[in-house]
Amino acid sequence: MNKNLVVLSGAGISAESGIKTFRDSDGLWENYNVEDVASIDGWYRNPELMTQFYNERRSELGRTQPNDAHKIIAELEQYFNVTVVTQNVDNLHERGGSHNIIHLHGELTKVCSENGKKCVEDIGYETYDYGRKSADGHITRPFIVWFGEDVPLLGKAAEAVEQADILIVIGTSLNVYPAAGLLFSARPSCKIYLIDPKEVNTTSRVEFIQKKATEGMRILKEKLLAEL
Ligand code: APR
Repeated sequence: MNKNLVVLSGAGISAESGIKTFRDSDGLWENYNVEDVASIDGWYRNPELMTQFYNERRSELGRTQPNDAHKIIAELEQYFNVTVVTQNVDNLHERGGSHNIIHLHGELTKVCSENGKKCVEDIGYETYDYGRKSADGHITRPFIVWFGEDVPLLGKAAEAVEQADILIVIGTSLNVYPAAGLLFSARPSCKIYLIDPKEVNTTSRVEFIQKKATEGMRILKEKLLAEL
């Protein structure tokens, strides 16, 4: 019976694919105010700006490739029951080959109706003008979980972490709750590894691999397979 392995990933895993993180020195939040482009209040204030912000990120994603960290995580499916819980809205885990993915903060290639986030559609890397209507006749919005909104998949993610034998935390500053709190759903017997080139402020129970995602996943894959 294969062990349960959960990956909790953040923006850092996509950094080596060329996608900016949020809080690094050259991060996305350097050029934009979170409140203006990633919150429900921002949407009510300026939906055109937010539509444009996600159009730009969606177009950029179409020119981006998964990196070896995404691919190695997919390879681990041969040895473990792998669940990827990601804070990222990019589709690089899917394109890296992973199958069981929970997007806590939504998905960049999808849009939905402003009316209860219904009528979810995958538009790929297309852009659209604010005012586009969804199938229910309401205005279309990005299928993203913004600050100030519920995280509908949190329960499913917590269940996965509660059953994990191994938890890999990779490329996240653990600044944003409730995602960051998932670590505390792990059983005492669950082995937790954290991969990040910088120190991350979290529980001392983690085994810290101070490397970038691709290098760290190479090292950790070796270690995990040696312990099979
Ligand atoms: N490999 C691994 N980790 C990296 C790399 C890399 N090449 N480059 C940077 N990092 C690390 C940084 O050191 C940092 O700890 O990735 C982390 C990125 O942290 P954030 O920018 O805060 O991104 P994240 O933790 O995913 O943010 C969580 O905040 O703005 C919201 O909704 C947004 O999902 C996002 C959430």
